[in-house]
Amino acid sequence: MPGKTDKPLILIIDDEEPLRDGCRQVLEKSGYEVLTAEHGAEGIKIAREHMPDVAFVDLKMPNMSGMEVMEILSKDIPDIILVMITGYASILSAVEAMQKGAYDYLPKPFSPDQLRAITKRALDHRALKIEAKKLKEEKEMMEKNFITFVSHEMRSPLVVVRQYFETLKEIASDKFDKDVKEIIERCNKRLQNLEEMVEHWLDISRIGDGTFLQKKEKVNLESIMKRAIEEMTPLCQKRGITIKTEISRNLPPLMGDEESLMRVFTNLIGNATKYTPEGGAIDISIQSDNYYNTVKVADSGCGIPQDKLPFICEPFFRVKGKNEKERGSGLGLAFCKKIMESHHGRIEILSKENEGTTCILTFPADINAKNNQK
Ligand SMILES: Nc1ncnc2c1ncn2[C@@H]1O[C@H](COP(=O)(O)OP(=O)(O)OP(=O)(O)O)[C@@H](O)[C@H]1O
Ligand SMILES: [Mg+2]
Repeated sequence: MPGKTDKPLILIIDDEEPLRDGCRQVLEKSGYEVLTAEHGAEGIKIAREHMPDVAFVDLKMPNMSGMEVMEILSKDIPDIILVMITGYASILSAVEAMQKGAYDYLPKPFSPDQLRAITKRALDHRALKIEAKKLKEEKEMMEKNFITFVSHEMRSPLVVVRQYFETLKEIASDKFDKDVKEIIERCNKRLQNLEEMVEHWLDISRIGDGTFLQKKEKVNLESIMKRAIEEMTPLCQKRGITIKTEISRNLPPLMGDEESLMRVFTNLIGNATKYTPEGGAIDISIQSDNYYNTVKVADSGCGIPQDKLPFICEPFFRVKGKNEKERGSGLGLAFCKKIMESHHGRIEILSKENEGTTCILTFPADINAKNNQK
């Protein structure tokens, strides 16, 4: 049965019988399998049934034109390569044929060599097209499975190594010489770097596909901020930094993801603490009007140079220079931005070098939540 062998399958759609027979003979001799059809409708039927690799389509046929046939075939048959056969090879018809999905055209009359050459080219082109498609699909698949790949292939073995490592330290560290202990400590540092890197990769892909934002429910900005401040207070105290808050009464609830917002707030307070010299101050306020709920976190720290401000929320962007000793991953603000966007809100950063930075979060007010509250 045609189409069942390994031979490439070629379909000739042309209303001239001698041409069909001639093509069949030439192509069969070259080792291809050949099907023929004498008009467009028959050609489409045969193509749908046998899925040919290449179809030669005569431009001028009664009833249905070659252009129409090619348009249908290019949509219906994946990976088919179409070649237009034409009696009058005008540039215009060739261009139109290409637009309808043709790969090339063959002007009549043509020699067996020309037919063989164009068939081979079409088949090579098909093989390349399929290869490229396969690679693209593989790449998409890899991107899609990136999180799973990183967590299974890298994080899981790392967890095991960490457990063994901790056990080793516990049961044997007092037996080690000083220099062995030093090596073990270096291993520990490297392992820690690797663990952090894997977590960051995971975070980055979560930023990309939004999977870190789990649920939306009624949340209260004041209580989330209080939690965030509580969590950050030990760090602030350690650095002698004071936090002042000004939160307006009766803030309306809004729809959001508490844990993501907690992450935004702790990130901003964390930055304010990290980039503010000892003894500095952080002012936090939450205001609400009919249109917006606005959260501000302002510090009296080193500030951000004006020319760096536009990039500050890009993943991995960090300001190099005197405050670089405060190493971070450069992901905090990228998360904040992504999380704010998924709350239909935004983040704005105002800053002046050596004076301080103010991060402003705006959430659109939920009119319904406000009315329900009254
Ligand atoms: N309040 C701030 N004052 C001064 N510089 C800031 C402030 N907030 C952010 N920056 C600058 O912006 C950069 C990016 O901040 P971001 O929070 O994204 O990353 P990070 O703090 O370096 O690392 P991470 O938050 O991932 O631990 C910081 O490295 C810092 O240079
Ligand atoms: Mg940060």
